[in-house]
Amino acid sequence: MSLLRQQGVSENSMKITTDERRMYGDLAWLWPLMGQPDEEDWLAEAEEFVSAIQKYSRIQARTLLNLGCGGGKNDYTLKKYFAITGVDISENMLANARRLNPEIAYSVGDMRDARLGKMFDAVMIADSIDYMLTEDDLRAAFFTAFAHLKSGGVFCTYAETTRERFRQNETKCSTYARDNMDIAFFENSYDPDPTDTTYEYACVWLIHRAGKLEIETDHHLGGIFPLQTWRDLLQEVGFQVTLIEAPFNAPMFVCIKP
Ligand SMILES: C[S@@+](CC[C@H](N)C(=O)[O-])C[C@H]1O[C@@H](n2cnc3c(N)ncnc32)[C@H](O)[C@@H]1O
Repeated sequence: MSLLRQQGVSENSMKITTDERRMYGDLAWLWPLMGQPDEEDWLAEAEEFVSAIQKYSRIQARTLLNLGCGGGKNDYTLKKYFAITGVDISENMLANARRLNPEIAYSVGDMRDARLGKMFDAVMIADSIDYMLTEDDLRAAFFTAFAHLKSGGVFCTYAETTRERFRQNETKCSTYARDNMDIAFFENSYDPDPTDTTYEYACVWLIHRAGKLEIETDHHLGGIFPLQTWRDLLQEVGFQVTLIEAPFNAPMFVCIKP
């Protein structure tokens, strides 16, 4: 019997099975400090969605539903082109979004089952589709997009984490200085079991505030699927699917509702 088992600790307890997501909960106050919406990275991401929507939509795109809109940094740019409605599962992230974009209508909802009772010219999901952990989750999120889209309208999402693109133990560090704080942010992605549909995303913040160091940690589960699964599920819910290169983001699925 292993030492861990003798101590009553399951050997699996070292594996991340819970989704803590402090980043969108008690640590959501850090989000506005980590990159401004008018900086190059955020602008480029939002502009890629604008170009794809304008190029591929078969109807005039005036209204846009942003599922998993988070702290509203994309919306800050998108609102120059579209009337935005934002939905996110985290009340704390929506509080950030409302501060940044007081004119936008935001509501709490889960992209797997939100039903707003309204139709939109375009729908997007950016940087939050990774939280779909099973094929059923992914299909449900795609169906939410389909259910809110007018005929001829376009749904765009990018496939940042796929089986093909995933790099084991990928680690990134970024730094920020704002409001008398210096922040170093480390992110790590690791897949302990390539036969299932999830991977682990762990992060650490070193926050220097008034000469004192605070250390915060968080861990999430993300979903990981082959690119073909994305395409199959999008077609299954009824979309006409095109995969385009998006130089700033990962490959982007541009999906028309017939
Ligand atoms: C990385 S943030 C998105 C950032 C966003 N693009 C922005 O402009 O600030 C990911 C977001 O996905 C949200 N999220 C995760 N699961 C969700 C779900 N099932 N439905 C809706 N939002 C979800 C989180 O609450 C978080 O705000």
